Amino acid sequence: MSATDKVSLPKIAQARFERLEARTAKIGVIGLGYVGLPLSLLLSAAGFQVTGFDIDEKKVTDLEAGRSYIFRIPAEDIQTARKQGLQATTDFSRLTDMDAIIMCVPTPLTGHREPDLSYIENTAKSTAPWIREGQLVVLESTTYPGTTEDVLIPLLEAGNTAGLKVQTKGAAAEQGVFYVAFSPEREDPGNTTVARHDIPKVVGGHEEIATELAAVLYEGIFTRSVRVSSTRVAEMTKLLENIYRCVNIALVNELKLLSLRMGVDIWEVIDAASTKPFGFHPFYPGPGLGGHCIPIDPFYLSWKAKEYDFNTRFIELAGEVNEAMPEHAVQAVSRALNTHKKAMNGSKIMMLGMAYKKDIDDLRESPSLTVIELLRAEGAEVVYNDPYFPTVGRGRHYNLNMTCTPLENLEQYDCVMILTDHSDYDYERIVRESKLVVDTRNATKGIKSEKIVRC
Ligand SMILES: NC(=O)c1ccc[n+]([C@@H]2O[C@H](COP(=O)([O-])OP(=O)(O)OC[C@H]3O[C@@H](n4cnc5c(N)ncnc54)[C@H](O)[C@@H]3O)[C@@H](O)[C@H]2O)c1
Repeated sequence: MSATDKVSLPKIAQARFERLEARTAKIGVIGLGYVGLPLSLLLSAAGFQVTGFDIDEKKVTDLEAGRSYIFRIPAEDIQTARKQGLQATTDFSRLTDMDAIIMCVPTPLTGHREPDLSYIENTAKSTAPWIREGQLVVLESTTYPGTTEDVLIPLLEAGNTAGLKVQTKGAAAEQGVFYVAFSPEREDPGNTTVARHDIPKVVGGHEEIATELAAVLYEGIFTRSVRVSSTRVAEMTKLLENIYRCVNIALVNELKLLSLRMGVDIWEVIDAASTKPFGFHPFYPGPGLGGHCIPIDPFYLSWKAKEYDFNTRFIELAGEVNEAMPEHAVQAVSRALNTHKKAMNGSKIMMLGMAYKKDIDDLRESPSLTVIELLRAEGAEVVYNDPYFPTVGRGRHYNLNMTCTPLENLEQYDCVMILTDHSDYDYERIVRESKLVVDTRNATKGIKSEKIVRC
């Protein structure tokens, strides 16, 4: 049964719906980062005419020249998409021609760890004047329930000089409206076991026509869409998923610390528990949380919860446990050096891995950044190696100005610390050539050596 059998579409939505269903629709993707660029390529490969919009001129110039700026996306993929019509621009007036507009802009925390919605707000303001009747606008940025309805929609309506309004629930479909939905991005960077198009796409419209338009759009590129009853449900779904992850990682991090004291190998425990065919999903300990999602998204909800006089205790506790992990990793190095009669102060440390997790080129919120600061504060001399980062300069919360050091002469370091378990590393060789290895990821699993300290 097609969507049109379930919801009767007004004339202004029908033409857009048909183009979306036939994949001849023009799609504008705003924000060409880790989410927006792969999404643009998926849409383009499916046959849609895609135009990417960004305020970052360098990204636009790169894409127009067929270059990639994301490690895991080869330039050939951009060039193929270009041949299929992919364009990139900083000119938001071109949004007028789009049938659907998808927003994938950042949602970080402010310095006071509160939601920073400025990117969504600025995008809404730049988009509003160009919205046309019957267009669909979808927000994909992770955020607290209510953002689409209470922040995005009012800005889109206020800035639309033609006076268009969002189609509202229960109102008869009419002229002069556009449609708004929320659909969270659920990608797991570096995960090669589930193809991105096989991750079901949750869609929640401001009302049911928007839901149908969004569903038919995403069904062009995803195996399946999951319709939910509102934008708030869709927003909360993404937060539940990430909070579930954050809390479970905290649990296993805490149990790792206890297991270390008890002389129990937590990784062996997790492997054994994972054989249970129901009721257990494995999470793994590490040197702390990283990435643009898990360390940040839960705090969008805990901030919003305060408005309802509600204290999200699980989120706060998980945050506390996870944020203490880099410090534990550094203490483990200090203790390990001590057994070699070395002080942290003046020790040379090679840190393996800058990325927040294996096999990706993303260091946002990476615990490695915190670990470097902590090691340096103790007087250690730190170098790093990471095949994904030839250099590490300056970001929102760091200013390192470091260059990747080749993995050579490992015996010159007092300690080699494994912070990211990239698959490309030869751990046998690393252990063989190093004096001391502190492994926060169980990357040296199966290697027997007195030199390894697993923490
Ligand atoms: N990276 C992930 O794996 C991932 C996974 C799931 C969800 N998300 C969510 O998706 C959203 C985007 O994340 P990302 O990782 O792609 O971020 P990103 O920083 O990689 O990319 C965002 C892009 O938006 C652009 N931008 C910022 N302000 C803009 C504006 N006003 N107009 C146009 N473009 C603008 C930036 O220049 C950048 O290119 C966030 O809400 C994030 O939480 C990310």
